[in-house]
Amino acid sequence: MLRKFSFYFNNLALAQKLTILLLVIFVGGITFSGIALANILNYKAQNEITSNALLLLRTLNSVRYYTNNEVTPHLQASLGNEEFSPQTVPAYSSRKVFDALRKDNNSYQDFLYKEAMLKPTNPQDMADSFETEIIQNFRQNKNMQQVSGFRSFQEEKYFYVARPLAINDASCLRCHSTPEVAPKEMIKIYGDQNGIGWKLNEVLGFKLFLYQRMKFCKTLVNL
Ligand code: HEC
Repeated sequence: MLRKFSFYFNNLALAQKLTILLLVIFVGGITFSGIALANILNYKAQNEITSNALLLLRTLNSVRYYTNNEVTPHLQASLGNEEFSPQTVPAYSSRKVFDALRKDNNSYQDFLYKEAMLKPTNPQDMADSFETEIIQNFRQNKNMQQVSGFRSFQEEKYFYVARPLAINDASCLRCHSTPEVAPKEMIKIYGDQNGIGWKLNEVLGFKLFLYQRMKFCKTLVNL
């Protein structure tokens, strides 16, 4: 086949040879630059989504911080040690703020937020096997601050960004250390096993943003 082609090629006039050569260079160049451009756009889109997700994660962290330092002490003072109200829970306020953000802005519809934990308070936050692996990696590599990639989930492909989650404020332990110190009402609702026994500065889970891939491809087209 190759011999046949080279015989045929050798018998061509110089002008024809040149035309074929230019054609090969042209097609090769177009293919190469097409692949390179697709990769650059893909990289740019991933970067854009990652920085969007990071901004959201940081904002939600500030919401938690505000709740824990301003709202919880204020409300707790009137509730006493036994009573419990979800408005005193930092994770509750960050979830509510994120839900409101998604409701009011179409551009956030494709983001999902999860605080995936090994021993969560709310069973909805239980890490699945894929997420457990990420938590274990964060635990083993203390310097790892972020991971991102793709995962299939409910028959869709998602781009995800995850950051480790550890308790580094002793005031959180009032509800997350032992059932004896936690508000009695809270233990009645969540049980004495869930979200209990957490330790300071230990990676317990991670905050995760998932971004639906179909929309991710649309972002590519819009760039
Ligand atoms: C007043 C009690 C209380 C305090 C204080 C509190 N939490 Fe929680 N936390 C809860 C409850 C209750 C939930 C479950 C909320 C829900 O139903 O989604 C929760 C949920 C969470 C979650 C989501 C995963 C899970 O367990 O379901 C994280 C992460 C978390 N808390 C971390 C913290 C951190 C960090 C602090 C301190 C800044 C803190 N909590 C302070 C009661 C508390």
